[in-house]
Amino acid sequence: MPTRSTVILGTGSYAPERVLTNEDLSRMVDTSDEWIRARSGIRERRIAAAGEATSDLAVQAARRALEDAGVGAADIDLLIVATVTPDYPMPSTACVVQHKLGVPSAAACFDMNAACSGFIYALDTACALIGSGRYRKALVIGAEKLSSVVDWQDRGTCLLFGDGAGAAVVGPGDKPGTGLIGTRLGALGEDTDLLCIPGGGSRSPTTAESFGRGDHFIKMKGKEVFKLAVRVMEEAARDILEQHGLAATQIGLVIPHQANLRIIDAIAQYLELPVERFFVNVDRYGNTSAASIPIALDEARRAGRIKPGDLTLLVAFGAGLTYGSALIRW
Ligand code: UT7
Repeated sequence: MPTRSTVILGTGSYAPERVLTNEDLSRMVDTSDEWIRARSGIRERRIAAAGEATSDLAVQAARRALEDAGVGAADIDLLIVATVTPDYPMPSTACVVQHKLGVPSAAACFDMNAACSGFIYALDTACALIGSGRYRKALVIGAEKLSSVVDWQDRGTCLLFGDGAGAAVVGPGDKPGTGLIGTRLGALGEDTDLLCIPGGGSRSPTTAESFGRGDHFIKMKGKEVFKLAVRVMEEAARDILEQHGLAATQIGLVIPHQANLRIIDAIAQYLELPVERFFVNVDRYGNTSAASIPIALDEARRAGRIKPGDLTLLVAFGAGLTYGSALIRW
């Protein structure tokens, strides 16, 4: 754990303008608004413009977070972008964002790939580095253009995903016991095949054949991922509460990864918490992977659902399979 407290100084988020509704999807694949709402709780998702890349979404969210924190880009010495849809395989999206924002060249900039748990992984890393005293102010971003890796002919996946970005500015706190007070990160590497993009990496570089098979698209065994998501997120939430001697009822707001409303409902039920204690925006954005938690966190703060002194629990699960939970005292 960090040697000094590290706090979130500001948050921001951005969703592209274009809305893709379930009705729109039902004209693209054999599905219906009714089915999608019943099985996932999603009504619509945002889709980035053709010329808009992940870094463009990230920059918009980051500007809002910097403004909210009252911190200038020149003050940032650590920039982490959590994403599975980088602008390029190389260089990192963090370096592209650094240049667009005017973050100094002396800042450490890198991407982090932990899929839907990416923001919690990046937040934990930033807080540890700031807690160590080696960095002063971090910009932690979760940003995705998942529409670029979705197979729009696969009705089993295309209903779920959307584009967006969320960001947080993190720095040292002056009140002990506030900020990120604990995290629980982990991974189930034996199940990488349940949710992956099989092509385009060193295992299977893109060829005409792999492209023809659609190996560059997201593949998901939805039912298996669903069951694991419920079990593992519940465990990650329980573990961190136990570690800190807390009861679930002491949590003011749970911000779960927004993958499927049925997953959120099930976790609420197992933790014996009213679902109103969970922040939900999956209906408007679908699953935005690493962007999901920081967008929800920003919307929750701006909606006044987080007050000074409150405890917030973040919990996520995603490809890897990775998972993570985090406790924040405001
Ligand atoms: O970020 C973390 C990773 N992602 C997740 O956590 C997502 C986890 N998985 C899910 O959210 C769900 O598995 C889905 C929403 C993707 C699918 O729901 P499901 O209840 O698991 O449905 P299913 O895949 O078992 O399919 C049930 C039926 C099938 O028909 P049969 O075999 O029963 O005749 C599918 O062919 O529904 C059919 N189906 C659809 N029907 C209409 C599958 N997709 C669709 C669709 N529209 N879009």
